[in-house]
Amino acid sequence: MNNTRLTQALATLTPDVALALTTSLGQQGFTGKIPASIITPVLNQPEKLMPWLTFAAQFAITPVSNFNVGALVIGNSGAAYIGANMEFAGQALSQSVHGEQAAINNAWLHGETGISHLFVNASPCGHCRQFIREIAQHQQLQVYVLGKDKIAFNQLLPDSFGPDDLGNKFALFEQPQQVFVASEQSPVIDEIVEHANASYAPYTGYYHAIGLITSDDQLFVGRYAENVAYNPSLPALQSALSQLRFTGYDVTDIKRSILVHKTGQNIDMAQHYSSLLRQLNALNLDLVELS
Ligand code: THU
Ligand code: ZN
Repeated sequence: MNNTRLTQALATLTPDVALALTTSLGQQGFTGKIPASIITPVLNQPEKLMPWLTFAAQFAITPVSNFNVGALVIGNSGAAYIGANMEFAGQALSQSVHGEQAAINNAWLHGETGISHLFVNASPCGHCRQFIREIAQHQQLQVYVLGKDKIAFNQLLPDSFGPDDLGNKFALFEQPQQVFVASEQSPVIDEIVEHANASYAPYTGYYHAIGLITSDDQLFVGRYAENVAYNPSLPALQSALSQLRFTGYDVTDIKRSILVHKTGQNIDMAQHYSSLLRQLNALNLDLVELS
């Protein structure tokens, strides 16, 4: 994949840092991850990580606001993950992905077990604070907003409504693996099923994941991340589209979409996803049920 967006974003970094990132890339190319070898040496000088916010913001899609948010989270492995906001022209604002959500989703999909630091170029909004409240390590999370002093997450969201309020003992990043089985099997469906089983839906049981297949047969899978306050939940389609963006593909490169979902629950998002996919690239959503 010729990732022209990456090329543009690299131009915002100093040449040595840009070179360190490009030489670290493997066969898969850029997937939104910055290796620990680049991050760890400067972790005690947070100001040196701020340029990554400008880099991350290059991946934003903001046809509605023209306000580009760049975020970076550091995972427990020491690697960092970028995030950028994504808006959908002609759709409801509720379809938007916030930069912080994108970065956290990026770390989660890369297999991190938690995050320790969040960097962002604008103060995290209430919706993002509530989204972060769902994470196991939120109590230890350090937040660095561009131009401001470091702040502990708990100071940003005192007296919060959290998973306990709905009797949920689990947390995002520490969710138990589900063991649902799909109504059909294939290598592609099996991979989406794995992600559906790793999705987080403790309040509804509507475990699901969406796979997007590009015309050159690359598969991008997004997982659902539910929230105790419902509305800040990150839909699986947004999760997948956000990852697709980092790699240089566009929505117009998608030829097939598949939703693997646990039906028979109190909610169902198939219609909701179908309508967005139809508008984005005239795509039909194939459905696979889990039981
Ligand atoms: N936005 C974020 O990405 N993070 C925040 O916490 C503040 C708001 C985005 C959402 C929308 O795309 C745009 O900024 C204007 O609100
Ligand atoms: Zn936000």
